[in-house]
Amino acid sequence: MPNVLILGGSGYLGLALGKSLLRAGTYTVWGTARTPEKAKNILSNEIFPIEEDITDPTKLAAIIIENSINIVVDASAAYEKAGSILAGVIQAATEREETLKKDNIVGPKLGFVYTSGAWNHGSQKTRINDLLPPASAYSQDKPATASSWRPAHEQAILAARDKLDVAILRPHTIYGRGSWVFGTWWGALAEAAKAKSGTSSPISIPGDGKAVPGLVHVDDVAAGFHAAIDRIDGRLGSWPIFDLVTETVSLVEILEAAKVVLGIEPEVPLEYTGTQGNVFLEALGLVSKADSSRARTVLGWSPKRTEFLLNLPVYVKAWQASQ
Ligand SMILES: NC(=O)c1ccc[n+]([C@@H]2O[C@H](COP(=O)([O-])OP(=O)(O)OC[C@H]3O[C@@H](n4cnc5c(N)ncnc54)[C@H](OP(=O)(O)O)[C@@H]3O)[C@@H](O)[C@H]2O)c1
Repeated sequence: MPNVLILGGSGYLGLALGKSLLRAGTYTVWGTARTPEKAKNILSNEIFPIEEDITDPTKLAAIIIENSINIVVDASAAYEKAGSILAGVIQAATEREETLKKDNIVGPKLGFVYTSGAWNHGSQKTRINDLLPPASAYSQDKPATASSWRPAHEQAILAARDKLDVAILRPHTIYGRGSWVFGTWWGALAEAAKAKSGTSSPISIPGDGKAVPGLVHVDDVAAGFHAAIDRIDGRLGSWPIFDLVTETVSLVEILEAAKVVLGIEPEVPLEYTGTQGNVFLEALGLVSKADSSRARTVLGWSPKRTEFLLNLPVYVKAWQASQ
């Protein structure tokens, strides 16, 4: 049974992935947690907690070796430390390779799965696919400012393929349960619903009303990662990078539907206040025209949650309940 270490194991995506791997009965899972409460929570989910600083490359390498980890998943939000994390993973792979070499033994490569994101693509006018490297001469747009460092990090991971078996997955906007991204918009609506019940004055929404986010449910993202982990030992082909998205829906449609769920009268107008120099809101304002054909063919990914607008009431209510 391969051993998987999830960096960011206590997070929104990391915990969903850990549970998915355990449900299959084919992996043992370790996960990082930065507080005793979060460590207890992941342990209660049958994931061995690691409470050390995984952004220190030497510590991370030691954790990987000591726990006989076969596959590391970076699902953390330690963005400024992404390079240090990759360095720690490469250090562990090199150490293991050199130790085995002393006895003339060749072992399997350490697997490394990185969580990138759709913001790398910027906005699109026409359909794109994940065979086109972002931030290149062939890209339709530059990456969102918040993600400007990430395409170079993807390239650094690809450059480490002599030491690691790698996969890079780019989830689009993740929804379901306590989605913090959707909290930006639904939070504004929920506050307004509480404060302005019965009035018809406009509700201010942070961000760009022209946004068309690519959407994917958290459980489908976990299934995509799970499929990549299953195939990490050389079965991902020469371009192990996959966008994960199930549909694209305009923000206006999403929020008009959410308004109804939250009991706001349909005639109450929404006023989009723009991105106002906020890099997070800028990224949420992108227009996505991407799909996941390659994830379906190469990973066998078959997302189960589609029809986002049809099922919106349960997602809004679940988000509210999680707050
Ligand atoms: N959510 C989305 O819609 C979405 C879409 C595309 C890509 N992504 C990417 O998916 C990854 C995970 O996102 P998420 O939505 O699961 O976020 P999240 O719920 O905030 O989880 C992030 C995880 O990273 C950990 N972490 C943050 N900073 C760290 C540090 N300096 N050292 C160690 N651990 C650290 C957090 O620990 P604590 O719990 O202790 O803070 C948490 O476990 C991120 O790279 C994000 O960019 C997310």
